[in-house]
Amino acid sequence: MRKKVRVYGDEVLRKSAEEVKNIDKNITRLLKNMTDTLKDEHGVGLSAPQVGVLKRVFIAIDSNRNKIITAINPKLVDEKDKEIDVEGCLSFPEIFFSIQRAKKVVLEAFDEKGKKFLIETDGILARCFQHEIDHLNGKLIIDYASDVEKEFWKEKLNNLHKNK
Ligand code: CO
Repeated sequence: MRKKVRVYGDEVLRKSAEEVKNIDKNITRLLKNMTDTLKDEHGVGLSAPQVGVLKRVFIAIDSNRNKIITAINPKLVDEKDKEIDVEGCLSFPEIFFSIQRAKKVVLEAFDEKGKKFLIETDGILARCFQHEIDHLNGKLIIDYASDVEKEFWKEKLNNLHKNK
């Protein structure tokens, strides 16, 4: 079932998510709902807090392998080099910031069956992993923005607060 994506200004986006202890029916349902929501919104990644659930879970589209990656209790075990690129977020519709992140990362996480996996990647997917892990710690793209960028997007940012 498609869920409403929480937008900037919603308190839940600022909270730290909890580790998943058991991959039970609630987690399975959460993953299904997140997948439906991500497809509907045409996003590249979505974290559980964005649908109002404070669990350490995210999903991401791996366009190279044409599949959706499920990451439970994810962490970055390696990061290499830096790169600046423009980045958006479903919680900041139509707003983009330039953000410096690691160019290559190694992600360690558990899949929907509880199996541990490692993915070494770069480009959009590496950026997405870092972005989604930030969500699990209550960190958002605006936290990286310069004053100039915040000023540039001021009107749209204010409207997000108002429409909430
Ligand atoms: Co986001």
